[in-house]
Amino acid sequence: MTIAELFQSAVGANRLSDSPELDCQLLLCFVLGVDSSYLKTWPERQVSDDQSTQFNRLLQRRLDGEPVAYLIGSQGFWSLDLKVSPATLIPRPETELLVEVALDLALPEQASVLDLGTGTGAIALALATERSRWEICAVDLQQQAVDLAERNRQRYQLDNVRLFASNWFAAIPAQRFDLIVSNPPYIEANDPHLSQGDLRFEPASALVSGDDGLGDLRLVCTQSVDYLNRGGWLLLEHGFDQGAAVRELLDQAGFASVETRRDLNGLERLTLACRSD
Ligand SMILES: C[S@@+](CC[C@H](N)C(=O)[O-])C[C@H]1O[C@@H](n2cnc3c(N)ncnc32)[C@H](O)[C@@H]1O
Repeated sequence: MTIAELFQSAVGANRLSDSPELDCQLLLCFVLGVDSSYLKTWPERQVSDDQSTQFNRLLQRRLDGEPVAYLIGSQGFWSLDLKVSPATLIPRPETELLVEVALDLALPEQASVLDLGTGTGAIALALATERSRWEICAVDLQQQAVDLAERNRQRYQLDNVRLFASNWFAAIPAQRFDLIVSNPPYIEANDPHLSQGDLRFEPASALVSGDDGLGDLRLVCTQSVDYLNRGGWLLLEHGFDQGAAVRELLDQAGFASVETRRDLNGLERLTLACRSD
């Protein structure tokens, strides 16, 4: 079979996905060990039986709903190609808004930054690539996530990021930061979306936060004040319908300049606030 024949038959079969062409392209590139331009340049090249079998196995898993990122073990985020694993969330494009907003803040040149619940390291590593003089701490409850983020850090040799396990602030040294960022779990325990689509394959530890989805956001809002310098910023990603609740939590915790930003879909996606006193 040629590349073009295998690709076309797979796209036709992949009716369950929203993006059959992209899925098949990513899977085929992974199996052949090539980039997407190769598929377009050499459509008539033969694919070996082994490669075809491996591709069809992955395609079947995709048809069963498994996210492409888990099948190929990586996901693009910002300018990085990050290793992913079922130990943590697959980084989402919406989270790049948090990176953009963080980079726009007026912060010291050698800002100290904390990323709570770093997962693959997505936010911390994206910030580190853009600001080599920032000193960034990134923590996660799951040691497997910390190990994964460390592999991603090493791949890009980002020496200004330090990763370790911590239950939110529990293992953070007595220190104040200029910026705290977090994309914590924020889905309600009984949300029906948890049993649909990609979320079925991602760990509850990365998604679910108590009955109202606000348990971790509440804790981070309350405790961050004690870890921020005066004039320091807290940036939190949250659910599209949690903006008002998060603004209230931040007001109650004594933050100033509380403001919610919308993502490209026009949905309330992140809220930032400044420690003023
Ligand atoms: C929604 S995921 C975000 C991952 C990553 N920051 C991103 O944006 O792709 C939440 C992360 O918080 C971590 N987490 C959950 N509870 C935690 C806790 N008590 N302390 C630290 N991290 C926690 C999870 O393991 C998971 O990696």
